[in-house]
Amino acid sequence: MAEQDALARALDLARDYIAARADRPVWATATLRELRAALGGPLPAAPIDPTDVIDALARAAEPGLVTTTGPRYFGFVTGGALPAAVAAEWLTAVWDQPASLYVMSPAASVVEEVAAGWLIDLLGLPAACSVGFVTGCHMANFTALAAARHELLRRAGWDVEADGLQGAPRLRVIVGDEVHVSVIGALRMLGIGSRQIVRAAADDQGRMGPDALEAALAAVDGPAIVCAQAGNVNTGAFDPLDAIADVTSRHAAWLHVDGAFGLWAAASGALKHHVHGIERADSCATDAHKWLNVPYDSGLVFIAHPEAHRAAMSLSAAYLVRSPEEPREPMDWVPESSRRARGFAVYAALRSLGRSGVADLVDRCCHLARRFADRLRQEPSIRILNDVVLNQVLVRVAPEAGDADAATRAALRFVQEEGVCWLGGSRWHGMDAMRISVSNWSTTEEDVDRSADSIIRAVRRQA
Ligand SMILES: Cc1ncc(COP(=O)(O)O)c(C=O)c1O
Repeated sequence: MAEQDALARALDLARDYIAARADRPVWATATLRELRAALGGPLPAAPIDPTDVIDALARAAEPGLVTTTGPRYFGFVTGGALPAAVAAEWLTAVWDQPASLYVMSPAASVVEEVAAGWLIDLLGLPAACSVGFVTGCHMANFTALAAARHELLRRAGWDVEADGLQGAPRLRVIVGDEVHVSVIGALRMLGIGSRQIVRAAADDQGRMGPDALEAALAAVDGPAIVCAQAGNVNTGAFDPLDAIADVTSRHAAWLHVDGAFGLWAAASGALKHHVHGIERADSCATDAHKWLNVPYDSGLVFIAHPEAHRAAMSLSAAYLVRSPEEPREPMDWVPESSRRARGFAVYAALRSLGRSGVADLVDRCCHLARRFADRLRQEPSIRILNDVVLNQVLVRVAPEAGDADAATRAALRFVQEEGVCWLGGSRWHGMDAMRISVSNWSTTEEDVDRSADSIIRAVRRQA
């Protein structure tokens, strides 16, 4: 049968890809022009056999794939893909369940309900939190801030869903100076422009302090949302959440925490002190596709005010019939109406790791980040720019003479071209840096050592 043949072929191709994952070049080998030539051409005039489509797609795409699931990909903050989660994703595609209403997939609804409970428990969040399964932390930030906007304006006597923002009481938003750009993007979609946002000073690691926040809140009137951060995208640093919650509660402000990857520190006995106070947040956002190693895309939002969450997201129409037993209706908690049932993969990841497995994954990545930093520090012309408190390492070339920014950029290019590992670049406090993020379940000490050697080779060429 054509369908089964295509799936069997995909399974063979997937097995080959996984077997080669640790050895294939980490970055793509094909050029843009080669990829366009291999994948392009006119729309076929007539149907093509599904197995042939899969074969040709894999052949043409593979040289353009980045081995993000491999053990030496340290770019951005990109988790790998746990075996149980990948397999659950395949079934999700075969089952093809829209996670919109219970009636469209009772299993998808109950899996979200169960996974939501596990996550709240694992991350130490208030038991009454409502949870949304979204595409990523950007949309998790959006969902949380939509709930914040609803609730603060409701308290001020304004129905933002009905009356919009024109003429509404003014909402103030305070963020740390090192806020992630997705928070700004989320606020923009909610009618709060970047020039309307107040930035509170951050320290040398990117942490917003309670004093800076206090001063910023004291300078504004009216309802306020404060966006704090657990895990700076460059340094991995955490805002002091408990002290920040003291300030926000004094000002009756909504506290939102962007914890795209840092929130997972809550699952580790050794690291959870970093997120002390998270249970006092009104909302928080994270990704499953980063540190939980669920395949893309998968983000999570937790809101301590379910009514505000539902009011900001929920829609009704005559044909969208809700079930009488009042089960979870997945579309009440997310911005989309129709979407893939991404709860299955989150459920599979959590079930396969268990509580200790998530803690081990987080601890192991942090141990490997420290190992990276320790090895690189031994090289005289390398500086580590951040305190390695989590899984992020910022590396800068500091030659005895010459332009350190240019040397850092050149070293990064060499590392990327050599293909042993892949890191991205960034700027930190006006300095170019190479950015290492250890977020993959399959990375070993040997992978770190091989990658550190490649970075040191690249740096020596600049010295
Ligand atoms: C702190 C922080 N917030 C938000 C995001 C956005 O996450 P996503 O791209 O998964 O939507 C990121 C991504 O790296 C991040 O590091």
